[in-house]
Amino acid sequence: MGSDYTDYHCHLLPALDDGAVDLRESLDMARTLSSFGFATVHCTPHLIRGGYENEPARVVRAVDLMQRRLDDEGIPLRLVPGNEHYLDQHLPGMLPGALRAGNSRYLLVEVPFHAGPELLRPMVQTFSTYGLAPLIAHPERCHAFDPSRKGGGLRGALSLVLGIEPEQHLGDSEVVELKRLGCRFQGNLGSFAGYYGYEVRERALLFLRHGLYSCLGTDAHSGDKLWEMLVAGYAVVEAVLGEADTRELLRGTHLANGA
Ligand SMILES: [Fe+2]
Repeated sequence: MGSDYTDYHCHLLPALDDGAVDLRESLDMARTLSSFGFATVHCTPHLIRGGYENEPARVVRAVDLMQRRLDDEGIPLRLVPGNEHYLDQHLPGMLPGALRAGNSRYLLVEVPFHAGPELLRPMVQTFSTYGLAPLIAHPERCHAFDPSRKGGGLRGALSLVLGIEPEQHLGDSEVVELKRLGCRFQGNLGSFAGYYGYEVRERALLFLRHGLYSCLGTDAHSGDKLWEMLVAGYAVVEAVLGEADTRELLRGTHLANGA
C-alpha cells in the first residue's frame, strides 16, 4: 500500500447527502481511508437541484470544520471541497462558481445511468465555454457508456457468441469520443470488486485495460465494509495494471497531467 493516494470521489462529509450520517461515521471512514494509503480526499457530496442542494459555500464550510476535526484527531488526511454534479438541465447555470477537482479544470459529473449520447456532447461544449471539462464519475455504472451502444452492437454480440475479448470495439465507442473531446473519467474501486454487479465490473475492466481512467475514487457512502471494498478493488486493478501503474492511477497523476 502507498500513502499518497487521492480519492477523487467520496461522500465523507457528515449529514449532507446519502453519505456519512454523522461525525462518528465520517471519522470512521477517514481512518479507514488513511490506513489504506489515501493522503487526499475530495469531498464530493451530491449537488442536485430539488434533491441534495449542497452549494459550494456549504461544502467549503463543512470541509473546513471536518478538516479541523481530523487534525485534532491526528488523522493525516487532506480534504478538498468538491461536488458530484448531477447532469440535468440545471447544471449549466451552476457552472460559474462551481467547485473543481482541486486546482484542475475538471468538475466531477454524475451522468444519469440511462442517459444517451445526445445529453453528453452538448455538456462538453457548455463546459468548455467556462474553461471547464467534465470528470465523469464511474462511467462503468452508466449504460450510456456501454461500448455495444455505438458501432459495436453486432460485433459486441458476436464477440460474446465467439468468446472473443470485447476490447476490439472500444475504439469507436462513446467514451473514446468523449475523451477525445476533453472529458476525463473516474473509476470506482468498488466496481472492479463487483460491488455493483457483473456488468459494471466487466465494463470497468474493459475501460481499465484501455487506459480510459485518469483517476480512481471510492465513492464511499459509509464506513461499512469500506476496508474490504478497498482491498478487493485494489487487488483487481493491480492484477490488470501491475503495482506501479496502479499506484500512479491512485495518485491521480494522469489527471494532474491532463491525460
Ligand atoms: Fe458518488
